[in-house]
Amino acid sequence: MNLKDKYINFFVSKGHKQIPSAPVVPENDPSVLFNTAGMQPLIPYLMGEPHPYGKRLCDYQKCIRLTDLDSIGDKTHHTFFEMLGNWSLGDYFKKESIAYSFEFLTKVLQIPIEYLAITVYKGDEKIPRDEVSAQVWKELGIKEERIAYLDKEHNFWIPGSSGPCGGDTEIFYWRSSKSVPEVFDPEDEDWVEIWNNVFMEYYQEEDGSVHELTQKNVDTGMGLERVVAVLEHKEDNYLTSIWDEARTLLETISGKPYEGNEESMRIILDHIRTSVIIASDPAHIKPSNTDQGYILRRLIRRAIRHARKLGIDLNSNFEEQLARCFIKLYQEYYHEVKDNQEIVLNILKNEKEKFSKTLEKGLKIFEKISEQKEEIDGEMAFHLYDTFGFPIELTIEVAKEKGLNVDIKGFDEKFKEHQEKSRTASVGKFKGGLSGNSEIETKYHTATHLLNAALKKVLGSNVHQLGSNITEERLRFDFPCDHKLTEEEKKKVEDLVNEWIEKAIPVTHEVMEKEKAIASGAECMFIDKYPDMVTVYKIGDISMELCGGPHVNNTKEIGHFKIKKEEASSAGVRRIKAIIE
Ligand code: ALA
Repeated sequence: MNLKDKYINFFVSKGHKQIPSAPVVPENDPSVLFNTAGMQPLIPYLMGEPHPYGKRLCDYQKCIRLTDLDSIGDKTHHTFFEMLGNWSLGDYFKKESIAYSFEFLTKVLQIPIEYLAITVYKGDEKIPRDEVSAQVWKELGIKEERIAYLDKEHNFWIPGSSGPCGGDTEIFYWRSSKSVPEVFDPEDEDWVEIWNNVFMEYYQEEDGSVHELTQKNVDTGMGLERVVAVLEHKEDNYLTSIWDEARTLLETISGKPYEGNEESMRIILDHIRTSVIIASDPAHIKPSNTDQGYILRRLIRRAIRHARKLGIDLNSNFEEQLARCFIKLYQEYYHEVKDNQEIVLNILKNEKEKFSKTLEKGLKIFEKISEQKEEIDGEMAFHLYDTFGFPIELTIEVAKEKGLNVDIKGFDEKFKEHQEKSRTASVGKFKGGLSGNSEIETKYHTATHLLNAALKKVLGSNVHQLGSNITEERLRFDFPCDHKLTEEEKKKVEDLVNEWIEKAIPVTHEVMEKEKAIASGAECMFIDKYPDMVTVYKIGDISMELCGGPHVNNTKEIGHFKIKKEEASSAGVRRIKAIIE
């Protein structure tokens, strides 16, 4: 049995319900581009909203972390990874959580206790030192000298700059052939963290102030690829069974061994795998110059550049062969990967064809410059971006290999000058952080449901939500439509929404079986994201949607609704931006 199945079986046997992995592109959360942790889709429930599945949950979640993008190429980093998680939503706390982790590691995975070490939170002026966790570990047989108390930087977990948070206890494994030392030194890199149990009892606001949550939660996360490496005694994650088939295939395609070509091979393997996951997501991300689309473009283009470096014929279908390998690996667990495989393969092929046309010429420019100068100035970096399709990060990478500097500031200036769509705006989002679901965002959530309903009335029932994004300033809504909306259509939509707002219609919600909800006509964007029991939000007889909320209690709380912009988003997809005043 593989690790994912073992993990789920274990926690189900301890009274947990398995929830499906959410899409990797979060819905209604403009502050992050991708889910970076298993807890992210669970935030409303960690904050007190009852989860339809109860108080004990477990899953494996698709995660993407971009903070590590530049480290890809080494032995241990990945952009996409799977996180195994179990949660207590106001149910059990430290004692049980630690006992479950211990039992899973030592009994199910049969890791010898001598190979484990623990960190706990040493506390600060607001939160006490976690003697409780340390005591539980000791009672389970962990020796005192294998427990380290660390500060906030190490043993306190928060998703970004605000959100539910708390001190944590982390479990480390001795990943080395050297004999395992008696005393745990957390600085020693042969001790690798394998599991993080966060005791989420606080909420931290943007201004740094902390208050207690209404319930004490447990949020745990275990990185699958790292644990597989540990269990298979591999120091290089890319040498584990997860990668065996794709790595061997890449060796065959390139005619080169992995050994000696690790960096490029890891980059290709990692980036193609992550591209498969992004491109198969129900959010229908395509390569573009903004947000998630920009990341997808960057990943594919960087993989192509490294493929060329390995001497792979770019006219071959190497990207398809590798992608099929990952599709095969993940389709059983994330069926969107299977359902959208043709889309994925097309995206990869199109992006490759687009980029390989200009890649050669672009690379020649680097050769020429390196003969004459020491720097790629802003203008040239922009030219490489604009004309040759080199994401700036790729320019920086190639320049580094040639011993050239890049005037990044100059590039940024040129970029702004040309008033390209703002990439920098999305860069801010890479840092993580979550939307606070402020009062205004809550109003926008409900307004989004009304807009969806109004568009159906005006344009026909085939209109539905393809994407939605809410900030404190506006809502954005994508829907299928083959024409630009006329002034009359826009006005009709606006008037309808405002009419419903003025009617002061109560917003209600109820928990019901997913099948029943769908059968009774409830709308839902990502059907697979939801467990069998779902929350359905109703606005009178106007709208009924599967949704995690939050929403206003009555439409009159929304205010006045106004469409600011209606434009094409992609072929056959229109985008509305609207505000409330
Ligand atoms: N949310 C915690 C993490 O990502 C478990 O490490």
